Amino acid sequence: MISKETSSKFGAYPSLKDRSVFITGGGSGIGESLVRHFCAQGSRVAFVDIAEESARALVESLVSEGGSPPLFIRCDLRDIEALRAAMAEAAAHHGPIQVLCNNAGNDDRHQTEDVTVDYWDDRMAVNLRHQFFAAQAARPFMKARGGGSIINLGSITWMVGDPDCPAYVTAKAGIYGLTRALAREFGSERIRVNCLVPGWVMTERQIRLWLTEAGERQIAERQCLPDRLQPDDIARMALFLASDDSAMCTSQQFIVDGGWV
Ligand SMILES: NC(=O)c1ccc[n+]([C@@H]2O[C@H](COP(=O)([O-])OP(=O)(O)OC[C@H]3O[C@@H](n4cnc5c(N)ncnc54)[C@H](O)[C@@H]3O)[C@@H](O)[C@H]2O)c1
Repeated sequence: MISKETSSKFGAYPSLKDRSVFITGGGSGIGESLVRHFCAQGSRVAFVDIAEESARALVESLVSEGGSPPLFIRCDLRDIEALRAAMAEAAAHHGPIQVLCNNAGNDDRHQTEDVTVDYWDDRMAVNLRHQFFAAQAARPFMKARGGGSIINLGSITWMVGDPDCPAYVTAKAGIYGLTRALAREFGSERIRVNCLVPGWVMTERQIRLWLTEAGERQIAERQCLPDRLQPDDIARMALFLASDDSAMCTSQQFIVDGGWV
């Protein structure tokens, strides 16, 4: 939940009220924060995930808070037909999609010598392919509404050259190329496409799987700012990129990493 005290400290975007928003991977982590933040702005939110339990718990908690609840549709994004069907269902419920947050991803670790062709293809399907096909499906909806905003979740991993997950890092670099290509192609329809690039964000999964004492030291050394990045820090940038406040921003990377150098 975003408490009243917390939300009153941050921006409210009148242009997001009633806007039809579609979020992938909204069941946990940064995606959950995206769902909560767009709902708090009065947007009509639909989200997909494979993690049914946490997704349904999120919907229930938002219902109990009394706001207009998001629509959850179970969908494995590796199945592009299922993704297309979910987007059509979301548009039927909330009106043509105006904001797409391509958020879902998976950073499971792997060593180069262990990567098979099937594993490589699966990593691309989980981290890159659905972003293109979601944008393809969103385009006619956005065109019909006179414009829209597509927000692709990238990562600093490829800029800093992280080891231990080369397929993930490759997919994340590809998302920047995808952003540039689609921003150019869709721009004349006033559809904006940007890449939102998180640093190391303290989601439940990151803390459980990857945050070690060495990782804590790395954050302290490499971030300019001392605080730990939270999912809400990323969601607030997404609100800006989705709103009319960023009307002339497209084809860019927006990095939220506490100054990772
Ligand atoms: N957390 C970080 O430090 C960090 C850093 C850089 C970039 N990112 C990016 O931000 C985005 C969100 O990351 P996160 O940390 O919140 O991840 P997360 O693992 O906490 O959440 C991802 C969500 O996507 C869902 N998902 C995964 N595969 C799916 C599939 N095949 N179909 C449907 N849903 C699926 C998961 O169930 C989960 O709810 C990702 O694109 C990630 O690469 C995260």
